[in-house]
Amino acid sequence: MMPRDTNPQGTIFGGVILSLIDQAAWIEALRQCNRRYVTVAMDSVEFHHPVLVGDILSLWATTERVGRTSMRVKVEVRAMRPDAGTDISVTTAFVVFVAVDEQGRPTPIAP
Ligand SMILES: CC(C)(COP(=O)(O)OP(=O)(O)OC[C@H]1O[C@@H](n2cnc3c(N)ncnc32)[C@H](O)[C@@H]1OP(=O)(O)O)[C@@H](O)C(=O)NCCC(=O)NCCS
Repeated sequence: MMPRDTNPQGTIFGGVILSLIDQAAWIEALRQCNRRYVTVAMDSVEFHHPVLVGDILSLWATTERVGRTSMRVKVEVRAMRPDAGTDISVTTAFVVFVAVDEQGRPTPIAP
């Protein structure tokens, strides 16, 4: 993580991590089925530790549930802190996408 992503306290701005979570989850959704997706919900985002400049983040995404038009993806965010030699779990989030057609209407996700 770079200094450009910090908040006034000098740690990484939470919104940057939320954006990375959304992107990681979207990649996982695409891996399952190549559709046009919109994010309809994100829940259970609780930051257990701050993310610091210099941390190396890993985002691990797994599909939890595929519905008719929606998909729920779990994302665990881990921060490796090279100086301290630690690798900690920062947060786990759940993102729900809905597959939409060109008019933005929900459309079925193929199995
Ligand atoms: C996503 C969107 C197309 C859903 O439209 P809708 O008319 O509410 O759709 P439906 O009620 O038919 O629900 C579609 C699916 O989404 C699921 N869903 C809708 N709202 C949900 C919520 N808050 N949490 C979890 N799932 C939800 C439904 O359960 C359904 O799933 P299923 O088909 O797998 O059973 C519409 O709400 C939308 O366009 N939202 C804006 C999305 C967006 O722009 N995101 C980026 C924000 S910058």
